[in-house]
Amino acid sequence: MENIHPIFDRIVSRKEKEQFLNQKSGVFWLTGLSGSGKSTIAEKVERMLFNKGHLVQIVDGDNIRSGVCNNLGFSLEDREENIRRIAEVSKLMMNCGIICINSFVSPTEKIREKARGIIGPDDFHEIFISTTLEECENRDVKGLYAKARAGEIKNFTGIDSPYEIPRNPALVVETATKSVEESAQMLFEFIVEEIEKK
Ligand code: PPS
Repeated sequence: MENIHPIFDRIVSRKEKEQFLNQKSGVFWLTGLSGSGKSTIAEKVERMLFNKGHLVQIVDGDNIRSGVCNNLGFSLEDREENIRRIAEVSKLMMNCGIICINSFVSPTEKIREKARGIIGPDDFHEIFISTTLEECENRDVKGLYAKARAGEIKNFTGIDSPYEIPRNPALVVETATKSVEESAQMLFEFIVEEIEKK
């Protein structure tokens, strides 16, 4: 009989978990201005992937800033810490075979590079949800741009805090010129190609 070291009986590898779920895991990191459409697209794509038999977790402000990061604000320093914690949490889920769709403004190259470094370059897929500031301000779904313009909110991305356009994203989704369905379909196809690689 083959002599198996006891450690190989105990440790269940990421690969085994991925095989169990019949998918390749990874972190699909949506970056873009507030109101660019990140969360709307993420939710649609999660449903599409689930219907196709995939296990996905959306990671966004709703489930992160209310808990793990509830002591953080919007200074650049706090945003960096926000993204660091998110990247660590996403990595845990990824190592469990789960596909993460992360939806964060993640405004600077430095912040995104930090996330890429924690998650690992092969598993971190940077997706730029691209829309002009004017379009986001016109939409102003949460009324935050009006407040930022009125000086009631400080350090608002695009107004008095920077957003650096990604230099080399894996995918760009232009939401101003596409319907939500078209944007979601584009992201869905990109993710499927990655997660069905064996
Ligand atoms: S970051 O920069 O990645 O740490 O930001 P994130 O965790 O994605 O949080 C962005 C959402 O918080 C709301 N909000 C603000 N955004 C930008 N700047 C300031 N000052 C701010 N204050 C509150 C805003 O609604 C963002 O949500 P989305 O879903 O992106 O619109």
